[in-house]
Amino acid sequence: MARSKTVFFCSECGNEFPKWAGKCPACGSWNTLVEAESKPARPGREAASRSKSRPFRISEVDTDKEIRFSTGFSELDRVLGGGVVDGSLVLVGGAPGIGKSTLLLQLCGKCAADKTVLYVTGEESGRQIKLRADRLGISAENLLILVETDLGEILSAVGSVSPDVVIIDSIQTMYNSELDSLPGSVGQIKECTAALMQVAKSDGITVFIVGHINKEGNIAGPKVLEHMVDCVLYFEGDRMADFRILRAVKNRFGSTNEIGLFEMAENGLREVPNISETLLSDRPTDTPGTCVTCVMEGTRPLLAEIQALVTPTSFNVPRRTSNGVDYSRAMLLLAVLEKRGGLRLAQSDAYINVVGGVELNEPAADLAAILAIASSVLDRPTGDKLAAIGEVGLSGEVRSVSSMNQRLSEVGRLGFELCVVPRKSKAVPPKGLKLIEVSNIGEALANVLGVKRRSAE
Ligand code: TYD
Ligand code: MG
Repeated sequence: MARSKTVFFCSECGNEFPKWAGKCPACGSWNTLVEAESKPARPGREAASRSKSRPFRISEVDTDKEIRFSTGFSELDRVLGGGVVDGSLVLVGGAPGIGKSTLLLQLCGKCAADKTVLYVTGEESGRQIKLRADRLGISAENLLILVETDLGEILSAVGSVSPDVVIIDSIQTMYNSELDSLPGSVGQIKECTAALMQVAKSDGITVFIVGHINKEGNIAGPKVLEHMVDCVLYFEGDRMADFRILRAVKNRFGSTNEIGLFEMAENGLREVPNISETLLSDRPTDTPGTCVTCVMEGTRPLLAEIQALVTPTSFNVPRRTSNGVDYSRAMLLLAVLEKRGGLRLAQSDAYINVVGGVELNEPAADLAAILAIASSVLDRPTGDKLAAIGEVGLSGEVRSVSSMNQRLSEVGRLGFELCVVPRKSKAVPPKGLKLIEVSNIGEALANVLGVKRRSAE
């Protein structure tokens, strides 16, 4: 019998090497190679005689049957591309305590209405799960719990129960007893995921795997897992705050632009279909230093409030911080405002923040950031019925952005009456929303904050 051999995996990029090295030859990371055991390779000829698989014509594949089913959470369905695909392997990653087990247990409760669900846990006892399920109001007859970490036992339970959906919580606690390495090592994670992939693909069972993330924010052995699974979802958010964002970073069956929004409450996770309303609910009225904008999260418009506080500095070098807007983008906007908008900021500290811990990664938020900063400098409010959308270029020009009509209808839906937009956007506003078309930030400052326009520079 072939002996198992020792190999080394890079915990950063997941590549495999026969020898240890201080620096990973593939990705260049230092001290990331870890020892693991590789299973003996299957002898080719023997495998060939045993193999049942055969090449088939693409036309033979039957796609008539609906292959997706709903998870019961429309936010999760959206992130998965319109429901979960039968027989797919989905990895749900996130920091400890963020709510992965809660999300999946709630999903079990919803799916168990018409499917057999097996929840395998290596982290909690049956009693703990039951207590949590009671709190979440889950009592499904078809929900089976297995407290186990040995992969062999799990696979035989899957064989005897034949579930439609299997949850593995978490992959870091599972191990294959044929390998010497510890649970959580790259070799074990890889081995267990490969076995679960086999189960998903050959038996058409949908498998959700929970993966904890390491301090760099990656699922341990990240690339190994990302290559193998069909979808990688990250559950993010501030543990202290209630909002949770589910984001797809890989999806073989849909777009990776979509996000799902949840809120953690006493009885589990609640979907937040109208995040804009929630984010804007405590907005101060007529206060200087804030402006609302609309960004696109996937296909969904999201309204967010940008706040700025500009104060005279008491240091030699002014202090600048930015939360929710990329720091270098914020610095660029401050420079544009100073040079093209004529506001003096060199001796001022500037703090920029997006309310609700939302990250705005779209240039469409530029114009609102500029207006919020200028509003704070001048101590004049932009008005609580005004929003601004547009990208700002280095010469102070305001550029059009995509999906303008969709953004404007969301702005109108939430009761805004004015929206500053790029002149060239050719947008059609919904009823009740008036557009202020501008071609540069000078015009925006003049129209919104009454700043006198300077003669051409
Ligand atoms: P959990 O799902 O155990 O996190 P993970 O599996 O990602 O480690 O979530 C635990 C947190 O969620 C914990 O801090 C308590 C909180 N929580 C609630 O606020 N309400 C609830 O109904 C439940 C079940 C958990
Ligand atoms: Mg958990």
